[in-house]
Amino acid sequence: MKRIDRETIGKILDAADIVDVVSDFVSLKRRGANYIGLCPFHNERTPSFSVSKARGICKCFSCGKGGSAVGFIMEHEGYSYNEALRYLAKKYHIEIKEEEMSPEEQQADLERESMLAINEWAMERFRYFLTQTESGRDIGLSYFRERGINDTMIERYRLGYDLLNDELSKEALVAGYNEKYLIETGLSYRKESTGKLCDRFKGRVIFPVFSVSGKVVAFGGRTLKSDKNVAKYVNSPESIIYSKSSEVYGLYQAKQAIVKKGFCILTEGYMDVISMSQAGIENVVASSGTSLTKGQIRLIHRFTDKVTVMYDSDAAGIKASMRGIDLLLAEGLDIYIILLPEGDDPDSFAQSHSSTEVEEYIATKSEDFISFKTKILIGDAGDDPIKRTMAIKDVVGSIAVIPDELKRTVYIQECSRMLNMSEETLKRQVSIVRRKNYEAVQKEKEKEAARESIADIVETQPDTAVSKPNQRRNEPRYFTLGDYEKEVLRYIVRYGCLHACYNIDKNTGDSTSMNILHFIANDLTNDGITFSDPDNAALFSEALMISGCFEEDLRAAALQAEEIKKEYFEKGVEEIRATAKNFDEIRKREEFLREKALAEYDRYLHDFAVSYLERHLISSSNDRVRRLATDLAMEKHKLSKYHSRFSKVTTEEDRIIQLVVQAMNVWKLAILHQREADILQRMQAALAASNSEEVEKLMIEKHKLYQEKKEFGHLLGDRVTCSSNK
Ligand code: CTP
Ligand code: MN
Repeated sequence: MKRIDRETIGKILDAADIVDVVSDFVSLKRRGANYIGLCPFHNERTPSFSVSKARGICKCFSCGKGGSAVGFIMEHEGYSYNEALRYLAKKYHIEIKEEEMSPEEQQADLERESMLAINEWAMERFRYFLTQTESGRDIGLSYFRERGINDTMIERYRLGYDLLNDELSKEALVAGYNEKYLIETGLSYRKESTGKLCDRFKGRVIFPVFSVSGKVVAFGGRTLKSDKNVAKYVNSPESIIYSKSSEVYGLYQAKQAIVKKGFCILTEGYMDVISMSQAGIENVVASSGTSLTKGQIRLIHRFTDKVTVMYDSDAAGIKASMRGIDLLLAEGLDIYIILLPEGDDPDSFAQSHSSTEVEEYIATKSEDFISFKTKILIGDAGDDPIKRTMAIKDVVGSIAVIPDELKRTVYIQECSRMLNMSEETLKRQVSIVRRKNYEAVQKEKEKEAARESIADIVETQPDTAVSKPNQRRNEPRYFTLGDYEKEVLRYIVRYGCLHACYNIDKNTGDSTSMNILHFIANDLTNDGITFSDPDNAALFSEALMISGCFEEDLRAAALQAEEIKKEYFEKGVEEIRATAKNFDEIRKREEFLREKALAEYDRYLHDFAVSYLERHLISSSNDRVRRLATDLAMEKHKLSKYHSRFSKVTTEEDRIIQLVVQAMNVWKLAILHQREADILQRMQAALAASNSEEVEKLMIEKHKLYQEKKEFGHLLGDRVTCSSNK
């Protein structure tokens, strides 16, 4: 495996000036310390796309898209991480050096890398089992044959099979893979009764799930039994490499065809995708049974503006999925629909027709979604006036979410014809719904604002762009543990490499400097606390990894700073010599210059240290880490208004250690609260079961917890204790 070497990545990130990079696509105007322009990710007339040169981040305050230079290019061009790096390298004429990754390195790399490596390996084993073992061929391969799947598709979608005797788990251990990762990827689990390591996908045919960039993040395993008591599909659990709601099955294989054909066909399942693809329709993906999430839609939107939904014709199914489609419309996508003949799903249809027939069907039967919806609803309503009104409201609701005004107008015209209703009336109805939706969004935004979550750069927003609605008192809101974790992570992203305190060795008495990140890591280890949210955990472990290179990079930066200092000094000396009146003046002014040069030097290194983690994290190759880090880098205060009273006098950085301790304590308290809720729940169960022994035990536990909580109460003051009480 090859990768762009660390040094090259560093050079690229250093060279990539966010203003310069964005300017290739957006015309930017200077506004205060920042730049502003029309957002390239959605249609707008007043600019809400803000670029912070100093922080190296851009963000749309309307649609939320943006990121570092790398993130921006990925999003805008639909590139993978490496493609984006190559693009930037080319722009800045940086020669790319690649390095070979050793197998050990791959193992020892991030947890994420290890999990991906195991998945990759497992996928190859599953393929081997399917095609090279006798029982694999007899059972797995013959199943695919029965379903009409050919070898090309088995290859294209990397289909596989898992043998019946827990072979995969056994082989993995022999091959030296860590059991921990086998369990975290969900490939194996420990059977409670026997303690044996078992295969999750035993006896199932395997559908690997690829990320857009082609990494195997999960598997789906289909049973070959028709027994109704056996789950048809078993899927990999959520983990730091797999979030079901942000992957789209088949997108990796389909993306080029989607761009080429200009649209994407959306189906429901693995088999739909594969059979359609076999019929030559390659621009096809699946939502994997659930309704699409915003994240999945955005992913598709990276490649096209047009989605064609393919449904089986069963009426209940159509109505159920209609609701989900408003989400697609709201993202600005054009939606079409293809209804299949009675009793067919995309899989069976593709299997029972020739390629030309399928192609022709798609070309001729594709209908505009809104017209389709209008037709169906109005047909169902018949002459019943109440049902008709409901139907119209429903259609109006769909039109109202479309962001583009022109498109809305066209739909209003068309539906007015179909519904036999004046354009004016429809238009008014649409406006009413739009206003309601807008108000709902504003309310959300108000809450956001109340959390003071918007970055410094919002200050440069034009006053007219979004007039702030009258501030209402923010309602109480409850945070999840993940929110508390993010508050701590935000300090890590923004200040992680800054000096926190001195660590004194008990034996030698030597003191070493400890930075914010390690201060936090230490504290977490001492208290045995881990992150509950997998994205948070991933960001944290990547921060730790990045900080491993800090010292070395700092030394390089110090050399650079030395150069800058020297240059600054020499230039100053020249000027002094040229302008000074006497020797004494030269001496004094040189003295002063030396001090200033030294201050310059310190400032340079300080800025380097402050921005170090942030700079790397917002350009991380891990999509989820990069996004989370970007969000955190943009945010000011998420949870508490508490600090803002002070922030006018002192900066966050001045009080960093206090703020970190505070955030850690609030988090710990939240953990205690959760434990308390947990105990109460168990207590209720125990009471209901009249299990007095258990109740006794829980009482003691509860008392202990109460003591701990009280201690924190002292640390934090009542404010926090009250606010997080449910
Ligand atoms: N699915 C799942 N878990 C289940 C059932 C379904 O994850 N227990 C997801 C799978 O991604 C599946 C999709 O939902 O592909 C659609 O489900 P279904 O139509 O039942 O499966 P098919 O893919 O059509 O499989 P088959 O044709 O083999 O029945
Ligand atoms: Mn099916």
